Amino acid sequence: MSVEADARHISADPRILKTTLIQDQFHIMALINENYLKLKAGYLFPEIGRRVSAFCQANPDAKVIRLGIGDVTEPLPPAIIEAMHKAVDEMGSRDTFRGYGPEQGYDFLRNAIAENDYKSRGCEIAADEIFVSDGSKCDTGNILDIFGLNNRVAVQDPVYPVYVDTNVMVGRTGAANDAGRYEGLTYLPCTAENEFNPDLPKEKVDMIYLCYPNNPTGAVASRETLTKWVDYARSEGAIILFDAAYEAFITDPEIPHSIYEIPGADEVAIEFRSFSKNAGFTGTRCAFTVVPKKVVGTTADGQKQAIHPLWNRRHTTKFNGVSYIIQRGAEAVYSPAGKEQTASLIKFYLENASILRNGLESVGFEVYGGVNAPYIWLKTPNGMPSWDFFDQLLNKAHLVGTPGSGFGASGEGYFRLSAFNSRANVEEAVVRIKTLFGRLIA
Ligand code: MLT
Repeated sequence: MSVEADARHISADPRILKTTLIQDQFHIMALINENYLKLKAGYLFPEIGRRVSAFCQANPDAKVIRLGIGDVTEPLPPAIIEAMHKAVDEMGSRDTFRGYGPEQGYDFLRNAIAENDYKSRGCEIAADEIFVSDGSKCDTGNILDIFGLNNRVAVQDPVYPVYVDTNVMVGRTGAANDAGRYEGLTYLPCTAENEFNPDLPKEKVDMIYLCYPNNPTGAVASRETLTKWVDYARSEGAIILFDAAYEAFITDPEIPHSIYEIPGADEVAIEFRSFSKNAGFTGTRCAFTVVPKKVVGTTADGQKQAIHPLWNRRHTTKFNGVSYIIQRGAEAVYSPAGKEQTASLIKFYLENASILRNGLESVGFEVYGGVNAPYIWLKTPNGMPSWDFFDQLLNKAHLVGTPGSGFGASGEGYFRLSAFNSRANVEEAVVRIKTLFGRLIA
């Protein structure tokens, strides 16, 4: 067997690691980060992709509708395209060509974000507290570089899998139990009983991931709920990692869009935002992370240390910035035309969500989310396991969704449908659901 083939086996099956080393004792290769071996087989969405590909290969004529991964389907709005075209032209002329840009992002974009996303909501966030990046997925994982391994981390359950997996990768956890929960993490169950808003942790935690509007449940956090978390963080010396990638989908005027709308949050919270879902940048990549200068951590000898310079150091060392063309496109999201066009994109996806919700409810499903979020979270019929429901939907209706258990143990018995698709596909999906589950009606 070749070395390459050995390596593949090592990553697939930890038991083979020992065998290989013993057989090959004269040629021991570099040590690996064994935390990766604790991870469950694959990241959720590639696993769904694998099952769907196998189904499509076996059923080449099936017209599969994908409401699984939350990937946008509608083209970038014209104001954004126009700004990107102009930026492309600038790159073609010696006078306006740009090489490396500032790693933290161009001032034109950081200023537009500070003004439109924060100042307009009464939040005191300065442009130099904003770090432009290529995605919130990357940033929510990368942020762990600047925190100590001994921090106790709390996550909502179900949860966007990246928060958990990246903590496993850096070595903050032990092994997973049978339910898929990793030793060393504090899980905060979010179920229909608590309206998908968890209680405060019973033990002291140092870092808390909160995602609102929530992926996957579609729940939102009221001002009161967020105040409860900010107060907890302030009294316990914890830091909140607040993922607001879906804030643009909030329709209820009482719901805060940013955690910085809560007094004191700028001392304890880091916020992640993205242009992926509001403006269609999943393919072009642009996001940002806000690290207020007032947020501090503690050194081993008990000194206070600001987080901002650490993140700045990390970001400028490991990242060379988002391309000028893409940042000009992102800036156009805040132009009058850009605002109008992105608002209509969001309205379109929310109408899809409402069509899905109504269709599911009409055949008796218990449905959550989809009002202030692009995700519908439904209870599987008769407590069917989430992956069984996935297989049934795929095999019998040629529809793809995301099994709730893939987001965590408390997601078992639930299922997520994404509203990111064409109107025709969403309407067709509802017809297929009604045909398959019409019998659910009592
Ligand atoms: C999802 O489907 O949960 C998201 O599209 C994943 C992501 O944003 O990375």
